Amino acid sequence: MNVIIRDTYEEMSRYAAGIIASLVRQKPDCVLGLATGSTPIGTYRELVRMHKEEDLDFSQVKTFNLDEYLGVGMDLGKPYNMDQSYARFMHEELFKHINIKKENIHIPDGLTKNPEEFCKAYEEEIRKAGGIDLQLLGIGRDGHWAFNEPGSSLASRTRVEVLTKQTLDDNYESFYKKAGIPRDQMPHFAITMGIGTILEARNILMLANGRRKASVVAKALEGPVTSQITASAIQLFKGGVTVVLDREAASELKNVEHYIHREKLLGTFSFNSINE
Ligand code: GLP
Repeated sequence: MNVIIRDTYEEMSRYAAGIIASLVRQKPDCVLGLATGSTPIGTYRELVRMHKEEDLDFSQVKTFNLDEYLGVGMDLGKPYNMDQSYARFMHEELFKHINIKKENIHIPDGLTKNPEEFCKAYEEEIRKAGGIDLQLLGIGRDGHWAFNEPGSSLASRTRVEVLTKQTLDDNYESFYKKAGIPRDQMPHFAITMGIGTILEARNILMLANGRRKASVVAKALEGPVTSQITASAIQLFKGGVTVVLDREAASELKNVEHYIHREKLLGTFSFNSINE
């Protein structure tokens, strides 16, 4: 596992965007797995800058997003049914600023009438696209990847999941404080890729920043593999793993010196292109 520590959020974001950009340049028709949340915003901004200033071309790139709230969604072109939809987030933060084709964007449909069928079809779409080359991930404060809340099977597939109290508390800010949506009307369910689905990607790029993530980052990377911290499944990953942290998020790791030493010896990042 490559653990890269940078002093600031901006440096973390630039490093992460550099990894994504070099994959897009190396394999213009690559398949990216994308994440939402505040963590990847800086990375997306840097990708947008590279698209505008350095001709980074997304015209053949396909994307699959990790998750979406159930009952929330956005049909591109139609009004958003809720500002907090992950589809809207992706459109505003990334897609509308780059030359990605609409038909190459895949986001779980929170407005589906048949979630079970939808989840099966989503898995099938990923398979048909040839699998995910690089999956971008954040980490929730309860250690989740996407919406694989504590107790999710580490072999789980795309499905509907119930959000934890911790996640609802974290969402309160954007739903209630920003939009006045009371807690009982906030989404309590989400469609999420499973941990088993994520582990099939060829490369993982996980990001975390800030003091509030330090303890859960240390548990996920250096603690036992457990369904209570689903991001700890990173330790089981077969492909290329890079974790990029800012100084604060790395502050509770035990092996920091080793990670820094390792980066010095190994230098540049290379992709795992083997599909096992
Ligand atoms: C949500 C998303 C996760 C994300 C997490 C952290 O739960 N489903 O994919 O990693 O939020 O969000 P933030 O980056 O804002 O801390």
